[in-house]
Amino acid sequence: MDVTFRIRRRNPDVPGKEKPYWQEFLLADVDPTDRVLELLHRIKWEQDGSLSLRRSCAHGVCGSDAMRINGVNRLACKILIRDVGEKVQVEPILGLPVIKDLIVDMEPFFDHYKQVMPFFVNDDPLPEDGRERLQTQDDRQQFDDTTKCILCACCTTSCPSFWANGHYVGPAAIVGAHRFIFDTRDQAGKARLDILSEPNGVWRCRTIFNCTPACPRDIEVTKAIGEVKLAIRKGTNVGIIESSAIH
Ligand code: SF4
Ligand code: F3S
Ligand code: FES
Repeated sequence: MDVTFRIRRRNPDVPGKEKPYWQEFLLADVDPTDRVLELLHRIKWEQDGSLSLRRSCAHGVCGSDAMRINGVNRLACKILIRDVGEKVQVEPILGLPVIKDLIVDMEPFFDHYKQVMPFFVNDDPLPEDGRERLQTQDDRQQFDDTTKCILCACCTTSCPSFWANGHYVGPAAIVGAHRFIFDTRDQAGKARLDILSEPNGVWRCRTIFNCTPACPRDIEVTKAIGEVKLAIRKGTNVGIIESSAIH
């Protein structure tokens, strides 16, 4: 089958191409099970070597090829042509500065992520028997979903609250915080909740729900944000209430 790609492009180094513009490419002999990423490679390798995009693993693991495909945030390596049809429109994800073609500057996104202390904090000595810090299966279940995040930014860059105000920490950062706030072994939950109580924290989320269907890892993003909001409202989190962790 033939497939037409319409790609949003920009090249700040080439006169006349500094402003975004659309360019079409026709590809023949496309198989319905070809992935969008493979076809972007074909365009780059067979038609226009200047086309720029970011990708690494090609297997839905690294999170580097998030882009807006037919108006929806997706990982190009996970989307098959049979799922998007014979006309495919590809744009950079929204709300972050475009560097070139489909490549955006991820620094503002990672700056928000760093704000929420996305790392394990526990100053207690390790158990003397040399075992790891154990917890029950139920305790683990409380944050199991948010461990799956690959920081692709599909959620944050689909959020109208983030488009309206780039200072909003965004759903991905809240998912990253959730993973530690609800870990019974962690000791910095209150500090993270304080950070997320700030004006650009969770309360900028208006429960618009774009983030949840955008997540390629099927994380229940809005639910996780709701749990963080509730923890702030109650002034508590699992690190503060009595823990059922095994010591
Ligand atoms: Fe990507 Fe999902 Fe993580 Fe958001 S929560 S950054 S969409 S993996
Ligand atoms: Fe945005 Fe998701 Fe909240 S789309 S407003 S972070 S529910
Ligand atoms: Fe790694 Fe798509 S290239 S997730």
